[in-house]
Amino acid sequence: MAESKSANITWHQATIDCVAREQLLNQKGCVIWFTGLSGSGKSTLANEVASALHQNQHLTYVLDGDNIRHGLNKNLGFSPEDREENIRRIGEVANLFADAGVIIATAFISPYRADRDKVRNLLEDGGFIEVYVDCPIEECEKRDPKGLYKKARSGEIKGFTGIDAPYEAPEKPEITVDTSMLNLEDSVRKVIGYLESAGLI
Ligand code: ADX
Repeated sequence: MAESKSANITWHQATIDCVAREQLLNQKGCVIWFTGLSGSGKSTLANEVASALHQNQHLTYVLDGDNIRHGLNKNLGFSPEDREENIRRIGEVANLFADAGVIIATAFISPYRADRDKVRNLLEDGGFIEVYVDCPIEECEKRDPKGLYKKARSGEIKGFTGIDAPYEAPEKPEITVDTSMLNLEDSVRKVIGYLESAGLI
C-alpha cells in the first residue's frame, strides 16, 4: 500500500526549517512511541507525559489509536495489512509533527516490530523513543476498560491482539514501563527522566 503512485513531483525546501522552529520553541521535536497491548495503559501514560511536559512549557501533541481511527484512518480495520497501513500513516504524521518541533506522544498497539522500525527509520537518530508499555495480558484482561477482551474471548471480536492476533514486543526499546508494577506517577517520571538524560528537554 505504501508504494509511490505519483510521478513528476519535486521536493520543495521550506524557507523556515526544523532547527529554526526548535529554537523558537526551545525544545527538540521528537516522537515518544508507546506500544503495548490494549488496556496496558498507553493512552493514559501518553496523556500524562504530555501534561507533565506541557506544564514545563513544552509544546506537545497526543496521537491516539482510537481517536485517529475516527478520522484519518477510519477506512482501516484490524487485518495485518490495515494495521500496517495504520502505523505507516501515523508514522508519517508523527514525523511531520516532529519536523514542526513538537514533542509527540503516540498511543498505538503497533503490534508489528517491522512497522515500528519503519517509523524509527523515518526520524532522525535519537528522535524516536520507543516505550514498551509492558503489562501482562492477564492484567490487561482484568482491567478490560472497554469490555473488548470479553468480546474477544466470546468470539464476538475476531483477530484481537494478544488473544488471536499477535503482539511482537520490542527487542531494544529505549524505555520499558511495567504498568502492573509501577504506578502512573513513577511511570511518567521514568519517561521524563529519559527525555532529560537524552538531552531532548
Ligand atoms: S493497531 O494494532 O493498528 O496499532 P490501534 O492502536 O490503532 O491498533 O487501535 C487499537 C484499539 O482499537 C484498541 O485499544 C481497541 O480499543 C480497538 N480495537 C478494536 N478491535 C481491535 C482488535 N481486533 N485488536 C486490537 N484492538 C482493537
